[in-house]
Amino acid sequence: MLIFLVFLVVSCAVYWCWVRRRSRYEPPLLPQSWPLIGHAPLRTMDNTRLWELMQLVSHRCLEADGAVTLLLGPQTVYVLTDPEMCTAVANTCLDKSEFYQFGRRWVGDGLVTADVPTWKYHRKLLNPAFSQQVLDGFLGVFNSQARRLVADLEDIEEEFDHWPHLALNGLETICLTSLGMEVNTHEDKRLNKQFFHALEEMFHIIMERVTKVWLYNDRVYSWTRLKKREDKLLEVLHNMSNKILQKRKQELKDNNNILNQIDLLGGKFKPFLDLLLELAEEKSVFTDQEIREHVDTMIVAGHDTSANTLMYTLVLLGSHSKVQENVYQEILEVLGPDRDVEKQDLSRLVYTEAVIKESLRLYPIFPVVTRTLDKDIKLRNYTLFSGNLCFIMVYGLHRHSVWGHDAALFRPERWLDGSLPDSANAFAGFSIGRRGCIGE
Ligand code: HEM
Repeated sequence: MLIFLVFLVVSCAVYWCWVRRRSRYEPPLLPQSWPLIGHAPLRTMDNTRLWELMQLVSHRCLEADGAVTLLLGPQTVYVLTDPEMCTAVANTCLDKSEFYQFGRRWVGDGLVTADVPTWKYHRKLLNPAFSQQVLDGFLGVFNSQARRLVADLEDIEEEFDHWPHLALNGLETICLTSLGMEVNTHEDKRLNKQFFHALEEMFHIIMERVTKVWLYNDRVYSWTRLKKREDKLLEVLHNMSNKILQKRKQELKDNNNILNQIDLLGGKFKPFLDLLLELAEEKSVFTDQEIREHVDTMIVAGHDTSANTLMYTLVLLGSHSKVQENVYQEILEVLGPDRDVEKQDLSRLVYTEAVIKESLRLYPIFPVVTRTLDKDIKLRNYTLFSGNLCFIMVYGLHRHSVWGHDAALFRPERWLDGSLPDSANAFAGFSIGRRGCIGE
């Protein structure tokens, strides 16, 4: 027994030395690392703790000049907050981390979760669907949805949580622009709510898997109640987009492969689904499943991000009355008391845009962007080795000293008074590099 124990300890020590053999070239180790298990005890299953941990690691990384190494058992993770280093990694490695696998049953080979070869091919095909001309077509929907949101909020007199209102409105908007799905009747609203709850719960399940190491293994996961729940939710989520996809496909067939713009909410436009169906017909690309995965990806990636950005922006406006007044005055000046937004107005709402960017700077919706390194990367002082994971710590990057001594303050004026950092990549609210947000 004793021999076995000695053998085990020696084997672990040898393995540890092998894993850490290149450590002198790597960024410094984050303090409080335990032998063999490293920083694994820092792992947490609690979302609030996870947020605090992310803040703590960001600050430690800033103090250590922009790069530290975190050890999660045998896994080495590089954490970066330095703009130059973050840019180098984002531009060199496009492969995301294994955590993204947990979303693949839902959105498959959509852009967020696709492997690099598929991503390269599909991103090129999809870029034109996000042209200015296509987006301008959605203005009618955006105006109507803004009016709906105001009507929804204006009768509430007591203190309330604004998140569910923003999230549901955001989901309706993305369902309109992605699928052309209107939400008018009682039944539409019921289905939309059911879809909304399924979507929120799916996010929750994915986070459960990310934070619970024992659920990483697919076989173990398949025995859990969580997996059975995921199956049910996927049925709801996939059914909705599949139903609309089949309906539009039939219309395309009946109409000589042309889909007319749909006329909804006072404007004519082509939803993302129709653009994909036409592209599929024209260039013989995309199976039905791929189209469904791309549409689902846009719904997932577009609604929660936009709604969260609005949520933080409103909280910040509510906490900074002078900024709120400035936004209000700018809107009055550009739009007057009550007219729809037109495309030429957007470039005149400069202060409002600065407020949204400043909100995204302080509270990025993706506080961490991850990459799996598929090659060694030489940085100023360190080398990051292939096969390891890298966390581009957007939360910390946005508080780096390049933002000035007041980096921690909410100050929208910084976007207008010439005090922005020289490097455009110091802001990563929509990520940085080629794998950044297509919906930016
Ligand atoms: C304020 C709103 C938004 C924010 C803050 C945001 C932020 C981001 C970020 C940080 C990423 C990188 C994620 C990663 O590395 O895994 C990303 C990717 C992506 N976003 Fe957005 N996003 C927003 C709106 C949208 C909208 C409206 C759409 C679509 C309608 C969209 C579609 C996507 C897609 C498809 C990707 C994956 C891109 C790729 O890998 O090629 N996003 N977004």
